[in-house]
Amino acid sequence: MLGIESSCDEMAAAIVRGGREILSSVVASQTLVHQPYGGVVPELASRDHVRAVSGVAERALEDAGLKLEELVGVAVTAGPGLMGSLLVGLSFAKALAYRAGLPLVAVHHLAGHLVAAELADASLRPPYVGLVVSGGHTALYRVSEEAEPALLGQTRDDAVGEAFDKVSKLLGLGFPGGPAVSQCAESGDPKAVDFPRPMERKGGLDFSYSGLKTAVLLEVERRGGTDAMSQADIADVAASFEAAAVDSLVRQAGRALRRESLGRIAVVGGVAANNLLRERMRAKGERDGFSVAFPPPDLCTDNAVMIAAAGARLLARGECESLELSAFSRVPVGEAPWRAPVGVGGE
Ligand code: KG4
Ligand code: ZN
Repeated sequence: MLGIESSCDEMAAAIVRGGREILSSVVASQTLVHQPYGGVVPELASRDHVRAVSGVAERALEDAGLKLEELVGVAVTAGPGLMGSLLVGLSFAKALAYRAGLPLVAVHHLAGHLVAAELADASLRPPYVGLVVSGGHTALYRVSEEAEPALLGQTRDDAVGEAFDKVSKLLGLGFPGGPAVSQCAESGDPKAVDFPRPMERKGGLDFSYSGLKTAVLLEVERRGGTDAMSQADIADVAASFEAAAVDSLVRQAGRALRRESLGRIAVVGGVAANNLLRERMRAKGERDGFSVAFPPPDLCTDNAVMIAAAGARLLARGECESLELSAFSRVPVGEAPWRAPVGVGGE
């Protein structure tokens, strides 16, 4: 199965055999394109995807030593994501499927992220709690064998990855923000600033990150701005922010496991690459007696392996789409608006 992923600023293609075995994985990152702007510029992302898409797909075939005719299907992210970005991968996938007479499979981006955890850990089987932490999403799901993932709680405002990106910009640490904040935080004191722990007292399984982001802004202003701060001060603020952001993820994950009476959690999405989150979640798992699965970092951030693997499962159930398939920028997990009759739904 060939997978194509282009929902944000990565153009990726990968080939997976039997739903599990990774034959190739190519990711063309646009870091240099967006770096000068400190964030993803949607129009530039689409334009760079158009440039990269055929080369990335060809490379995936070459690395796997396969010809187009040897594939069983083409799986592509149909949403959610940036509309222009999605359309590039989708149009290319449709053209390939048409040319080779292959089934076309539409994959939900977050369902793809969740499958990445099962790919990396063969012993991970539903039911489990899935925590999706990325630049666009922060949500807890109950993943079960019989049904689509059920939403347990989600962010009421910013996504945690978005908070990392904004704090990075605020502290002048650059783009992409997650790894930059995390690296800077290594030399800081996580107890230097007592940032609020979002939703700590509220109960429930939701998240909130905009208050924490504002608290960081106020702290930087209180210290006279980044120009007036030493490297050590900036590292202290970065470390204190990271600790607060991670604390809230770990606490809400623990609550979800207790509420659902489950003993397994999979943490996926770009922020799952964060070392402090990996350490703290594993430590809580050891204390509270639950097991924790993290995909390796290259399967946490956007990639096409997860799309090919999720697509293989859908195709095994006979789920594929017509060449009228379109992209959707907002889609709750478990929903497939591309299944709606032509002319209904869409954006
Ligand atoms: O899953 P992903 O690649 O794309 C989306 O679907 O959003 O996630 C990207 C997000 C960005 O916000 C990025 O800053 C964050 O994941 N991220 C990290 C780390 N690596 C990536 N956040 C914290 N620590 C990291 N090491
Ligand atoms: Zn993603």
